[in-house]
Amino acid sequence: MSKEKKYLTTASGAPVGDNQNSVTAGHRGPTLIQDVHLLEKLAHFNRERVPERVVHAKGAGAHGYFQVTNDVSKYTKAAFLSEIGKRTPMFIRFSTVAGELGSADTVRDPRGFAVKFYTEEGNYDLVGNNTPVFFIRDAIKFPDFIHTQKRHPGTGRKDPNMVWDFWSLSPESLHQITILHSDRGIPATYRHMNGYGSHTFKWVNAEGKALFVKYHFKTDQGVKNLDVDLAAKLAGENPDYHTEDLYNAIDQGDFPSWTLYVQIMPVEDVNTYRFDPFDVTKVWSHKDYPLIEVGRMVLDRNPENYFAEVEQAAFSPGHFVPGIEASPDKMLQGRLFAYSDAHRYRIGANHESLPINRAISPVNNNQRDGQMRFDGNGGSSINYEPNSFNGPKETPENKTSPFEVAGFADSAGYDQDDHYTQPRDLFRLMSDDERTRLIQNFVDHLSGVDYEEIKLRQIGLFYKVDPELGTRIAEGLGLEVPETVK
Ligand code: HEM
Repeated sequence: MSKEKKYLTTASGAPVGDNQNSVTAGHRGPTLIQDVHLLEKLAHFNRERVPERVVHAKGAGAHGYFQVTNDVSKYTKAAFLSEIGKRTPMFIRFSTVAGELGSADTVRDPRGFAVKFYTEEGNYDLVGNNTPVFFIRDAIKFPDFIHTQKRHPGTGRKDPNMVWDFWSLSPESLHQITILHSDRGIPATYRHMNGYGSHTFKWVNAEGKALFVKYHFKTDQGVKNLDVDLAAKLAGENPDYHTEDLYNAIDQGDFPSWTLYVQIMPVEDVNTYRFDPFDVTKVWSHKDYPLIEVGRMVLDRNPENYFAEVEQAAFSPGHFVPGIEASPDKMLQGRLFAYSDAHRYRIGANHESLPINRAISPVNNNQRDGQMRFDGNGGSSINYEPNSFNGPKETPENKTSPFEVAGFADSAGYDQDDHYTQPRDLFRLMSDDERTRLIQNFVDHLSGVDYEEIKLRQIGLFYKVDPELGTRIAEGLGLEVPETVK
């Protein structure tokens, strides 16, 4: 405990004479408006909350570094990946998806895995999950999907009817829900799970040659999951179990780490690969595109202030650096807009200047003013372009790499509708015990559905994945696989 004597002040720095008793008119009289310290204290308290994230509200963060361990400079010109041994500071936020800010950590839910690399060319954010795929593949379905994961508009409760109604009408979700109801659906801790960029991204090298990549962070702690009964117990007894585990591990010097790999697909393969490589409900076979090591991420410092660092952290899939670009993935394209828009609403137009979000490289643009402009606002420097006063200039070598587009503008779906092969492969890879637990988890979750029509529709989809899966889930629910799907 510090022995240094500090005196209490108002927000404007004036010493406070009494912080225990309000100023009243007489000993028992009403409180006076003259007590500006009281007014300021109550008013600021009323404004302590910013809106929680609309998804991924509950999370934990940590600082660390990323170090390159393999030369990938022939694939990307990104400066932070340019040479073996190079270190880049980073911040990560892990999260659950559907629950509110105070919700329990040990629930069955994907986990967010959002990494901010503070590079010399600006921040690069990789805003992924602990699953390599997602439930849907077009951003236009995202708000509807999330509504089903949140509370029912009438009852204010989580509602399996909404969840399974939507999934049973969206067969592209089969792959992700199979992962979600498998053992991996409840990680043992944030330290014991992998992270994935999930989408396909584009890398461009110094010669301008482009290729497509998928990111995989493999935990060096090993993948470990929680038993469902223990998870339920912990959710009641210690809702912050994962948050606490991460903090304590780092505090005790047991620094968790992950090895980053990429899969690389040449541009020429895009039209011939057996799955659409931009469809985020699909993985790329590791046999076709083996993992290539890139580097190691180590988390070695806890945040000092949860609100300033974890709550105010603003990750955006649109934060790229030269050498890393978007792909035409229809989900990713929507996300390029959604995040910074959410940040402007949640923490304001100048959120990029907050210490946790501020790039370590120079930020020179012509954006000025706005609420809570707490940095120098560009001083007297010129704020338009072109100009004759040596203002910051564009750098044509950093233009987005050109790519060809063709066809009609249309509300177009993906060409392929095979939603069954990849979950089937996953199911068949599972041991007998893993299959039994998967099926039990599905049965438990589906048991909360009140409508037989929804259950039968979903059983039909499971049957198409694998007759064993559909039949055993039907049995578990006391139903039969509809003849129409056999
Ligand atoms: C958080 C939108 C899909 C991972 C968020 C937030 C929004 C959002 C608005 C809150 C941002 C904030 O307030 O800071 C969307 C939309 C999607 C989508 C519109 C689809 C079109 C995905 C996918 C992934 C993902 C596919 C993973 C592969 C995350 C993560 C966070 C997040 C990790 C939490 C970031 C943090 O820790 O601050 N999303 N999301 N989202 N999303 Fe998404």
